[in-house]
Amino acid sequence: MKFVVLLLFLLTTLLTASSIMPLPQQLNDINIAKAKLGKKLFQETILSADNSVSCHSCHNFKFGGADPRPVSLGVNKNRGNIQSPTVYNARYNFKQFWNGRADTLLDQADGPVHNPMEMGMDAVVIEKRLNANAAYRKAFMRVYGSSKVLYRQVIDAIVEFEMALVTPNSKFDRYLRDEIQLSEREMKGYLSFKQRGCITCHNGINIGSNSFQKMGLFNPYDFNGTYPDRHAITHQEYDKNVFKVPTLRNIELTGPYFHDGSVNTLKEAVEKMTFHNLGFKMKEVELDNMVLFLKTLTGEQPAILGVK
Ligand code: HEC
Ligand code: HEC
Repeated sequence: MKFVVLLLFLLTTLLTASSIMPLPQQLNDINIAKAKLGKKLFQETILSADNSVSCHSCHNFKFGGADPRPVSLGVNKNRGNIQSPTVYNARYNFKQFWNGRADTLLDQADGPVHNPMEMGMDAVVIEKRLNANAAYRKAFMRVYGSSKVLYRQVIDAIVEFEMALVTPNSKFDRYLRDEIQLSEREMKGYLSFKQRGCITCHNGINIGSNSFQKMGLFNPYDFNGTYPDRHAITHQEYDKNVFKVPTLRNIELTGPYFHDGSVNTLKEAVEKMTFHNLGFKMKEVELDNMVLFLKTLTGEQPAILGVK
């Protein structure tokens, strides 16, 4: 069985021309006024039932758009059941959520607001609260030209903001554009990333986030809990412990790692990945080089965060 898996894996490695593309340096499709309103709403706690949580509580700009806690706390201090992924560059994810249950950012944004564990709100209450606020009424009037704030405009503005959360000009993107060289050790790390097969799963513009893969392809991963994996959607046996491959952009900022938030350092994450998903153990020096390479994937803060 293991042999078949290995063979299939090697075949796909050979057949897929896996490559990594740089992020665009400029975004030409953002309505800035709308994105600015979305930025405010993203950090607005009145969108949650007990006024305690905003999107930003679990997708923190200081931590690469992710949450430094293994699992997030929602309204009434409810513990979530999975690690909060980054919202940076989420516009390039082929699906949203670890198990891909939302197709678009628009579908996704509706989720946390209603999720009783996260924000626990409903559309009517949100409209009521925002309409009671003169500053918001004015801001929505400016962007949407209507005198009444509508829930779908709230989601629309948040999504516009998310569309602007792109982190260009990482060292690695600049290397891909032939503008700079990587250091010798970063280059070694990149070569192992390709030769060892990490790139078969982590590739494309987001260096991941374009396929579903099993956690524990070669050596089973110990799951100490129940997590919404692909199986929760398809109920197929082969989808157990299958998740969307996470993006590796800004990975040095977005720990703890894995869907269960069980790993604190990047080195340990690489070690575990190698063992569970490639079936071998890496030497210390190769691990260290790989980590140095992964750190070149940190981009600039999204420009919209600096827009007043
Ligand atoms: C209480 C914490 C919490 C709050 C509040 C929260 N999120 Fe999340 N968010 C999460 C967690 C946890 C996940 C992963 C859930 C899963 O995959 O099952 C997630 C997933 C996402 C994703 C998908 C990213 C990916 O790679 O799949 C996006 C986009 C996102 N959230 C945006 C938002 C927006 C917009 C808001 C506010 C309207 C928000 N979140 C509020 C915790 C939170
Ligand atoms: C067979 C596909 C596959 C291969 C090969 C693979 N990965 Fe992964 N990677 C995944 C999946 C799936 C996850 C999410 C696992 C989870 O959270 O349970 C992941 C998660 C990660 C994470 C943690 C990301 C986060 O946000 O929590 C890092 C870091 C990582 N991989 C690096 C690597 C490196 C380095 C290699 C090569 C040594 C590699 N991966 C090989 C599929 C793969």
